[in-house]
This record gives sequence, C-alpha cells and structure tokens, in this order.
Amino acid sequence: MTRIFQNLLVTGGAGFIGGNFIHYLFREAGFAGRVVNFDALTYAGNGESLSDIARDFPDRYVFVHGDIRDAETVRATLAKYGIDAICHFAAESHVDRSILAPDDFVSTNIVGTHVLLSAARGVKDFKLFHHVSTDEVFGSLPPDGFFREDTPYAPNSPYSASKAASDHLVRAANRTFGLPVTMTNCSNNYGPYQFPEKLIPLIILNALEGKPLPVYGDGLNIRDWLFVTDHCRAIWQVMREGRDGETYNVGGRNELTNLEVVRKICALVDALAPALPDGRKREELITFVKDRPGHDRRYAIDCGKIARELGWTPATAWDGGFEATVKWYLGNPAWVEHVRSGAYRDWLRRQYFGRPQA
Ligand code: NAD
Ligand code: DAU
Repeated sequence: MTRIFQNLLVTGGAGFIGGNFIHYLFREAGFAGRVVNFDALTYAGNGESLSDIARDFPDRYVFVHGDIRDAETVRATLAKYGIDAICHFAAESHVDRSILAPDDFVSTNIVGTHVLLSAARGVKDFKLFHHVSTDEVFGSLPPDGFFREDTPYAPNSPYSASKAASDHLVRAANRTFGLPVTMTNCSNNYGPYQFPEKLIPLIILNALEGKPLPVYGDGLNIRDWLFVTDHCRAIWQVMREGRDGETYNVGGRNELTNLEVVRKICALVDALAPALPDGRKREELITFVKDRPGHDRRYAIDCGKIARELGWTPATAWDGGFEATVKWYLGNPAWVEHVRSGAYRDWLRRQYFGRPQA
C-alpha cells in the first residue's frame, strides 16, 4: 500500500539535502500536497536555495522559522498546518564542528528529535515520521565488507554518536508507542547547495580561488559518494512504500579515496575555470594537514535491501553527477557569497522573523 500525504513537515529544509528534497518533491516527484519547511536557519540553512519554489508554489510551500528544540512552536506548527507526516532532516551535520563544539549536536540531534517525536505522537491519524540518518552510526570499516541494516552501531565522533542516539529514539517511538516510522541511513552526498565546509564544495571553491586544498592524514580514507537527488528519491520511495518500523541503507556503490576525489575536482576546475595566475595546476595546491581525530577509515553501504524491497538503485553516474556539481558551484557565485556571509544570514533571519505565514 502506498502512503499518500497531504501536509508534510520537512525539518531542515533550508539545508543541503532538505532543500534538494523539497526541490525534488515539487519538480520531479509530482507531490500534490503542501510542504511546510521548518528550519532554524543556522549557519547551514539558506532560505534562498528555495526562492524558486516559494515563487512557483506559493499555495503549497510554507516556510516556518523555528527550532526543533522548541516544543511549543513545533506543536503549534503541526496543529496549524494539519501535518500528517514529518520528514526529519534538521541536524547539526558537520563532523569537524562536532569535535570542536559538541553541545549543539547533542541538543539539536538528540533532544530536537525527541521533541519532534513527542509532538508527532500527539497528532491524530499521524501517517509517518521519516528519520534521515547516516552511515556514520556504524563506525569504520576495514578494507573489505559493507554496512548492512543489521551492522551493530559503533559511532566514533560526537556527530555520529548524536545521530545514533536519535536513531534509537525513533526506533523506540515505534516499538513502544506505535508511532509509524521509517528510517534511512545514507552515505556521503554530493550535489548543489551543500555548505562549503564539506569536502567537495570546499575543495571546488578553494581550487577556483587558488587556495590550499586541505587533505586530512594520508588522503586514503574512503567514502561512498551518492548524488543528492538519488538520495531524495530513495527517501521518498521509503516514505511512500517502506515497511513501518524498518530501516533502509542508501549508498552510491561509488567508493573513492579522498585523494581521488580531490584530484578529480582539480582536473575539472582546471578544465572549466580560468587558469591560475601563476600557471600552476590545481593539483599543486593539495596540502596534507593533520588528521581529523577519530577519523573513520572507510564507509561503504550494502543497499541490497532497498533495491530488493523497493527497486531503488543509484541512478546518477559519478562522472556526470560530479561534473554537474562542479559546474553548479562555478555557475552560482552569488549563492556561494551569500552562504559564506554572516551578514546575509542575519538579513535572512530578519526577513523571516515575524513574517506572516500562509
Ligand atoms: P545541513 O547542515 O546542510 O542542513 C541542516 C539544516 O538543519 C539547516 O538548514 C539548519 O538550519 C537546520 N537546523 C539545524 N539545527 C536546527 C534546529 N535546532 N532546528 C531547526 N532546524 C535546524 O545538513 P545536510 O547535509 O543537509 O544533512 C541533512 C540530514 O541528513 C542530517 O540529519 C544529516 O545527519 C543527514 N545526512 C547527511 C549526509 C550528507 O552527506 N550530508 C549523509 C547522510 C545523512
Ligand atoms: O557518511 C555520511 C556523512 O557524510 C554525513 O552523515 C555527514 O553529515 C556529512 O558531513 C559527511 O561526513 P564526512 O565527515 O564523511 O564528510 P566531510 O565532507 O566532512 O569529509 C569527507 C572526507 O574528507 C572525510 O574523510 C574527511 C575528509 N576531509 C574533509 C574536509 C572538510 C578532508 O580531507 N579535508 C577537508 O577539508
């Protein structure tokens, strides 16, 4: 049986994957209901990423400036918009930040998820709470093997520990209280609208600007890269057709060392952007720096379950998706400048704060 949603709350919709997901719902999935984007607009949130959706779907897209830790605002929003399902992206998402300052990771990722689950339990005829999680909860792999849904949790960073805790709360809400839930644990995403602190956009922009390209440790850590739209399609398929209470692993079947990723970016930026003034090739900017503490060596996903049960497989070839991503960053300097500017975020908060909502 396919689930149909009328009023979907998307938390963290102003961030990278949440923003791509809302684009996907309106532009590709043919979603006919209303989307309420609930986002606190932290440094990582940018309402501008959805200005085209706000313009083209004024009756079916609503932005609410709110914090998932604020139980009163969460409850009022669910009631006001008749929310019947939640897709939960909102989180502190950057591992390096979680090492420097873990507090917000604990409060947003764990307490925030708990607040949302409690509020959802109070909604009559609530259809689904979908939790977007990460493969990092499984820890680090040796050179062989894959993360499966039954791989024991072994998180190594404050970020992944906080996501693991949130996964357990979601599972408990289903097993103890009967809340309908589904969950996806995904590998590294790449694509448009990713905040330039993460490896791929950081390296693209530094390469463009002729800055050093920091590679942690020996650069041989492996990630399983997935184009963000493929992830969005997986989430939507699980939300509509996934089994209640089940978890699905999502991955790109695309393992690369960080050094391979960085070299590929260098070659693409050399080909697509003006040469550096001093004539150097971008690869010469690669700078090996001190390793990330607790740095997981390898992630790789076995996505056989979602393929078998729902027919999902990654569709975007690495070369095509990657070149499109580099071109997107080169072609959107205004977006880049805005997300890098704190002044812009302050302006955005003022725009939304107190603005009447549909
Ligand atoms: P992101 O950092 O780009 O965006 C996070 C969004 O959440 C931002 O818009 C931010 O403003 C919002 N937010 C943060 N704290 C909030 C709060 N307290 N209340 C309301 N909104 C808040 O993150 P992303 O990369 O898009 O990741 C989205 C989700 O997907 C996260 O849960 C992350 O753990 C998970 N995930 C990410 C990846 C990846 O490769 N990026 C892979 C697997 C899973
Ligand atoms: O696996 C899914 C996870 O992927 C998500 O849950 C996280 O939210 C997301 O941030 C991402 O985590 P990573 O730590 O893998 O992503 P990041 O882009 O920070 O780093 C990718 C790899 O590149 C990692 O091995 C660390 C390395 N790295 C990163 C940065 C920022 C560098 O070598 N240099 C850098 O400057």
